[in-house]
Amino acid sequence: MENETHTVTCSAPVNIAVIKYWGKRDEELVLPVNSSLSVTLNQDQLRTVTTVSVSRKFQKDRIWVNNREESMENPRLKRLLAEVRRLTKEQGSMSGNGTRPPSHDCHMHICSENNFPTAAGLASSAAGYACLAYTLCQLYHLQVDVSLLARQGSGSACRSVYGGFVKWEMGEREDGSDSIAVQVAPESHWLELEVLILVVSSEKKAVSSTRGMQTTVKTSPLMKYRCETVVPQRMETMERAIVERDFPSFARLTMQDSNQFHAVCLDSYPPILYLNDTSKRVMQLVTAYNKLHQEERVAYTFDAGPNAVLYCLRETMSELISLVTHYFPPTPGNERNYIRGISSEDCRTDSDFTKKLKLTFDPTPGLLQYIIRTSVGDGPRLLTQPLLGLDGLPLA
Ligand code: DP6
Repeated sequence: MENETHTVTCSAPVNIAVIKYWGKRDEELVLPVNSSLSVTLNQDQLRTVTTVSVSRKFQKDRIWVNNREESMENPRLKRLLAEVRRLTKEQGSMSGNGTRPPSHDCHMHICSENNFPTAAGLASSAAGYACLAYTLCQLYHLQVDVSLLARQGSGSACRSVYGGFVKWEMGEREDGSDSIAVQVAPESHWLELEVLILVVSSEKKAVSSTRGMQTTVKTSPLMKYRCETVVPQRMETMERAIVERDFPSFARLTMQDSNQFHAVCLDSYPPILYLNDTSKRVMQLVTAYNKLHQEERVAYTFDAGPNAVLYCLRETMSELISLVTHYFPPTPGNERNYIRGISSEDCRTDSDFTKKLKLTFDPTPGLLQYIIRTSVGDGPRLLTQPLLGLDGLPLA
């Protein structure tokens, strides 16, 4: 009994915001200056798996991320674990579903892996902290709002604790107890909505979100207008567009909010630039495509980096893939594996169609590393296959 090891393994998805979170009013508790809204992506293409083991045999807390042991000296991680232990101590005797949760004073081993390259800059901290928070809640039988814990690891992580369409209500209270994620609609609500992620080739590492948003909040005059006037209204309109499955409205708002997020970044001092020339070409392509069809059929959005995430309806996907691969072909030799994820239909570019787009740039190979086709997905899952062995060390 004394030497018993408790182990739980879970997975959690990535989410991509359509109304962006940018800026904190409390750095410690990770409380935002505006509400935000996101789409949870399918875990088949992008997910984090985390195993947590707890045992009296362990000498100290340890963490492995993507096959490498990392330091536990990360303030957000330490804070999250301290909060979980405090809640476990408080709730310990109350959690009564038959089995006893492990004690709050045992050491933890944590092992976490992504099924996508972390270096690609694809919201890995959101899936990572959502997965850790969810796994800890399962392990310790915690009766708390999981999003509240995930938020303290990384703000955007709180939206990855649900599938489908999720909003993060900024809340008002100083202790952050009302700053939580809420599901707007489940993944089954809008099955036609699909996602294409363009992983842009870039060498430079962007300014981290945490640091970038501090500079914006401190220095951007535009930011005040965004938080007080623009976002509250956009949250309502976006929620309605999703509930009504109104793609043109959803697309327009998504692009406008991405544009404004990058505008407040540029309005910061010193300025923050996340978009590069490839990102701008993607914006041009989508704009020209929508103009040709005289309605929004594709939406782009960019986070704190140059990668583009495109949303469209399934009926548009084949044409979109043709266009993207026409203007952004792979480097010779990189054709295999260029498009990953949900298997793509045969896509052919109609050359008359591309001429009608009237773009100011020519097709250029190698601007994208690869493309991921995915869809809207579900929230965290409990798994049976652990990443840690009985000795508490990584299996792989
Ligand atoms: C641009 O959640 O990474 O992706 O709370 O400081 O960890 P911290 O920041 P993070 O910020 C993500 C910002 C964003 C927009 C969004 O996801 O809403």
